[in-house]
Amino acid sequence: TMRIVRTVNELQAIVNPKQRNGRTVGFVPTMGFLHEGHLTLVEHARRDHDIVVMSIFVNPAQFGPGEDYEAYPRNEQRDADLASAAGVDYLFIPSVEEMYPNKSTIRILPGEQATRLCGASRPGHFDGVLKVLLKLFNIIDPDESYFGMKDAQQLAIIETFVRDFNLRTVISRVPTVRETDGLAKSSRNVRLTEQERSEASAIYKALSLGKKSYYDGVPLQEVEKIIRTAIEKDTSGTIDYVTALAYPSLDENFSEAEEVIIAAAVKFTSTRLIDNIIMSTI
Ligand code: PAJ
Repeated sequence: TMRIVRTVNELQAIVNPKQRNGRTVGFVPTMGFLHEGHLTLVEHARRDHDIVVMSIFVNPAQFGPGEDYEAYPRNEQRDADLASAAGVDYLFIPSVEEMYPNKSTIRILPGEQATRLCGASRPGHFDGVLKVLLKLFNIIDPDESYFGMKDAQQLAIIETFVRDFNLRTVISRVPTVRETDGLAKSSRNVRLTEQERSEASAIYKALSLGKKSYYDGVPLQEVEKIIRTAIEKDTSGTIDYVTALAYPSLDENFSEAEEVIIAAAVKFTSTRLIDNIIMSTI
């Protein structure tokens, strides 16, 4: 049976090396309002490790002023039921005061990678993501932590962070889980109007069209235009960006063995959706 843990002390007592006794820990950090994307991460952690820890924490440090921190969907009871059924052993649900008891002045500053894509319209967002993850990694000391390709930029920055600072956890990439019409599952999808929800599948369709064009030999700049045009035609949303870059460097120049990411962010009336496709270079 799953145990809900609300304090850092309690969780540290559970996962400390003595209690652990050689058993490995898989960790799935989330902001809750769980869906099958999150649950796939748990499935991987469950398969690979003895102990599965999930965190649910809507992290104020990664939301900018005017973003949806207050409006971010929350439902603790439903999340606990889903996490338990998926095989989570310990569900960590700290309060904001528990995670940030002191007014902190130390920041983690990711590099160039965090200035592209979502970083351009969400300054400081990835600083806040790395801050909460460093805390969670230090509290839990997971052997392996699981992240979704849905948030490909976040994942690329986390991989760099772990490498740069010699963090002990292994980072695992998990493919994006989609609705039957192709829309990437997201906690924010419930904030779409009915009309917007039916339009939103156009984002993945446009990215898929972009992928096909790329493999047909269309240059990436043109591919971006094709995607942009398709999204503009089929949705009422406003495009924040449609961009093709090297992955995971998120550079415009491709170093050896890198893949291509085509990524899009679209703003609807009360929420902003992101999606991406990773392709091999041709
Ligand atoms: P959240 O948006 O709740 O996502 C938690 C994890 O689930 C992330 O690794 C994300 O990439 C993954 N995920 C979300 N939708 C997915 C989908 N459709 N398919 C596969 N994986 C999916 O990302 C965050 O929370 C936060 O930034 C966090 C890392 C927890 C730090 O606060």
